[in-house]
Amino acid sequence: MTFDVAGTRRQFPILSEIIDGRPVHYLDNGASAQVPVAVIDAVRKYETTGRANVLRGVHRLAERATEAYENARADVATFLGVKPMEIVFTGGCTAAINLVAYSYGQLMKAGDRILLSELEHHSNIVPWQMLRQRSGIEIDMIPVTLDGRIDLSLLPKLVTPKTKLISLAHISNVTGALVDVKAVVEAAKAGGAKVMLDGAQRAPHGPLDLPALGVDFYVFAGHKAYGPNGVGVLWAKPELLNAMPPFMGGGSMIGRVTFAETTWAPAPRRFEAGTPPIGPAIGLGAACNWMRGLDWTAAHDHEMGLVQRLMDGLQKIDGTQILGPASLQNRYPVVSFMLEGVHPHDVAQTLDSFGVAVRAGHHCAQPLMDRFDLDGTTRVSIAPYNDNTDIDALLTGVRHAAKTLR
Ligand code: ALA
Repeated sequence: MTFDVAGTRRQFPILSEIIDGRPVHYLDNGASAQVPVAVIDAVRKYETTGRANVLRGVHRLAERATEAYENARADVATFLGVKPMEIVFTGGCTAAINLVAYSYGQLMKAGDRILLSELEHHSNIVPWQMLRQRSGIEIDMIPVTLDGRIDLSLLPKLVTPKTKLISLAHISNVTGALVDVKAVVEAAKAGGAKVMLDGAQRAPHGPLDLPALGVDFYVFAGHKAYGPNGVGVLWAKPELLNAMPPFMGGGSMIGRVTFAETTWAPAPRRFEAGTPPIGPAIGLGAACNWMRGLDWTAAHDHEMGLVQRLMDGLQKIDGTQILGPASLQNRYPVVSFMLEGVHPHDVAQTLDSFGVAVRAGHHCAQPLMDRFDLDGTTRVSIAPYNDNTDIDALLTGVRHAAKTLR
């Protein structure tokens, strides 16, 4: 079946705007995606007919807010194929990883090892380095292959009896490579390690079945998954969540407080101290429902068709080189490229003058840039609402940059 891209685009008001005299060719979805009307409406409904704090008040607005917030938790859980009480709302994906590093990290001891990869986003490196400083854990790193994939052939050597956690990007935010989760989980289980996936770049491409993936922790961000800013998700197996100590203390996360002693609420409340991001969580629930309503087989084919069009077009421009898998197998629609002799920031600025939004730079993945001896790349990240005109506008802009900037 063909994907209804025109119908999908109509649901995203910003895409038909003319902003500063230019159309919106939005190809920076990996940094933040746009929001559909369904999400805007859900947030508006909360703000205009049910705004109050949650889990505290007995008045009717508080009840409406609490119900909408808990429904959103259930909607996120359905999207991930898990149970609502296994979902923790956080301030974002980075906050979710930090939560695991602080909380699950307290269950680790000096000498325990964590395995990451060379292509990780800084948010899946720095929290572990901070844990290393606090508690003396060790960090190992899986190198990447020349085509920008995590080199899983090295797993048997790198997973040791001391490895307690393997934490990897489900999809690279730079190369678009999809990790072979099955191979990672098998290697981890053989050694008794847990697996966490950073799903920031995967969640925006359709529903997941986390139990089938066999991982232990999963995190993603609302704003990259067609939801609002300021909310993210941590999912963990319930036995892990219930064994983990709280990360932040405050209201809502307690059982009973006295000055002598405080007891904790069960998960997920234990990890949601203070007023949570209520409106953003409600918006994210709507975004998950919106994603569940899409035909992802057709949407993925459409997205990968755009990747092919982009790669074919780039290859015809002298001096361009793609960083990442050349084939469409096991990759998602994130494409990084270099234009010889032109800094990625200059490429991105030229593209902006054509109405094309991309990200340029190190993409919060400096170790990966070091691996390829690069200052940065220009990155195109595609969503189901992108179409041929977006890719063609980008290619026109790159051709212009190639002609005028070198
Ligand atoms: N992590 C986001 C990106 O890759 C911000 O652009």
